Amino acid sequence: MKVWLDGRIVPGDEARIPVTDHGFLYGDGVFEGMRVYHRRLFRLEDHLERLATAARSLALDIPGGIAGAREVALQTARAFGRDEAYLRLIVSRGEGALGVDPTTCPTARIVCIADEVRIYPEEKLRAGISLVTSSWRRPPADVLDPRVKSLNYLNNALAKLEARQRGADEALMLNDRGQIAEAAVANLFAVRDDVLLTPPAIDGALEGITRRSVLELAERLGQPSAERSLGRFDLFAASEVFLTGSGARIVPVGSLDGRRVGGEERPVTDRISQAFVPFTKEAGTPIDG
Ligand SMILES: Cc1ncc(COP(=O)(O)O)c(C=O)c1O
Repeated sequence: MKVWLDGRIVPGDEARIPVTDHGFLYGDGVFEGMRVYHRRLFRLEDHLERLATAARSLALDIPGGIAGAREVALQTARAFGRDEAYLRLIVSRGEGALGVDPTTCPTARIVCIADEVRIYPEEKLRAGISLVTSSWRRPPADVLDPRVKSLNYLNNALAKLEARQRGADEALMLNDRGQIAEAAVANLFAVRDDVLLTPPAIDGALEGITRRSVLELAERLGQPSAERSLGRFDLFAASEVFLTGSGARIVPVGSLDGRRVGGEERPVTDRISQAFVPFTKEAGTPIDG
């Protein structure tokens, strides 16, 4: 692991941040999870734009602006040196008083972590992962907007914990109206009547970069798709269900709450997954400049 911290790149076990950093004390900050494929940072500009929008919504200034964040991400990826990597870019409110007041934090802190990619084993992906419906709902936008990828992931962490304690791989999260929002740290897609469906962001989903890529690939492939509110009924009725995220990319779902979902064949998931492979070569910024 390599970490960019306070202007230097250090090995993971040497990276330390002060305990008065409000990212640590209060989850006050934003982050991005990105992938390097073939020495290219996948959809870097989209990640930077989402980071900047999220930071703006929290009145948080990114040190060095977007250009600074871009340079930090590319330098960290280069220092890690692998062709494939997972990158975590973090902007925290920075050090301040022990109280919650963000105005006591004069300078935001930017950190970038590069590490190996960890994904589900092949057999698991073939069988499809197990989902359980979380008893934790996604918070409404006037509580904590799920479109902001903030450092406050307690809602997601508790949903994931509940899923693991119930013997499942991932948590399905509903919004306060009982509609499907997303999984704890991934977006959700379902195929019904040959149409690829995903909940709109307004239902409590992050506007995932992988989600956007899947919708773009579907269009290129002539696969009909739509953003539509979904309930658990739609997943039980679906012929295919999968999750998307930068780390694991496209992950088939095999069961929900102990019941099988989807069929043995997954033609839409397979086509999109295959089309994603060349996409990772064309839609990335070279890390070597
Ligand atoms: C809550 C949540 N939803 C969805 C996603 C997937 O987004 P992306 O494809 O940009 O990684 C993530 C990624 O970490 C996430 O944390």
